[in-house]
Amino acid sequence: METPNVAENKPLNGLEEWEDFVKSRYPESGAQPFKATDPNKKEEQFRNYEADARPTVREFYRLNHRSQSYNFVQSKKKEFLALNRRQMGIWEAMEYLNTLVDDSDPDTDLSQLEHLLQTSEQIRKDGQPRWFILTGLIHDLGKILCLYGEPQWAVVGDTFPVGCAWSDKIVFHQYFSENPDTQNPKLQSRLGAYSENCGLDNVHMSWGHDEYLYHVVKDYLPKEALYMIRYHSFYPAHREGEYDYLMNDEDRAMFKWVRAFNPYDLYTKSHEKPDVATLRPFYEELIGEYFPPTLRW
Ligand SMILES: [Fe+2]
Ligand SMILES: [Fe+2]
Repeated sequence: METPNVAENKPLNGLEEWEDFVKSRYPESGAQPFKATDPNKKEEQFRNYEADARPTVREFYRLNHRSQSYNFVQSKKKEFLALNRRQMGIWEAMEYLNTLVDDSDPDTDLSQLEHLLQTSEQIRKDGQPRWFILTGLIHDLGKILCLYGEPQWAVVGDTFPVGCAWSDKIVFHQYFSENPDTQNPKLQSRLGAYSENCGLDNVHMSWGHDEYLYHVVKDYLPKEALYMIRYHSFYPAHREGEYDYLMNDEDRAMFKWVRAFNPYDLYTKSHEKPDVATLRPFYEELIGEYFPPTLRW
């Protein structure tokens, strides 16, 4: 496969730019842009979020929607899910991810490790179960895909099913016109490659850090945690309520946990940096409760 040029690899000034854009679409308080009662207004506001997006963010979505085809996802699964790249423990993986340095402002922005610890610390303060805290700690470790040289649009971004019609609630839907799957009518119908309520486990999602980490940790965590990890970027479903027709009853029940996790992911960022050295013993113990000393990545 050809190595994409730098601009195609990194349209964003750091992964954070995508997350900031998601946050602007789903502000913590105030207007719920997608839940407006006036259907015309809803449409209008949806367009505004796209129009107001930075050019870097727009380019990121254009590349994501153009490239995340059914075949692209199959090839990435083949490439990465044998998990034969590295062997490391969870804390080691956190330190490895932390070597990913964004081009964003180092004085005001959190490192990857700090984002993970802020998320888990907020979950801990809210008195959530230990596996929930652990999930907050590890949920973005799949971003080490960037360190393997993967382009940003194949690591982060709102995820969606491939192999069936794209919901028009997916942000920057118009960029799907460049996706090769538009040429295949079998992948363009409502069900496409799937059957009604087949369950998300049978559905191929656009490729990124969620799916990759799910495969690394799937033998070790409770089902609720695995749903949070696998679908935390599936905004079209957990925020917009789309793709219910692909879900089975278990998916619907488990999505309550995906929704419970989302505010911790989006809204716990503050400039107050967690004290890594002080927190480390607590988390090393928690990691040891669920994970072996090394995992395959
Ligand atoms: Fe994430
Ligand atoms: Fe996150």
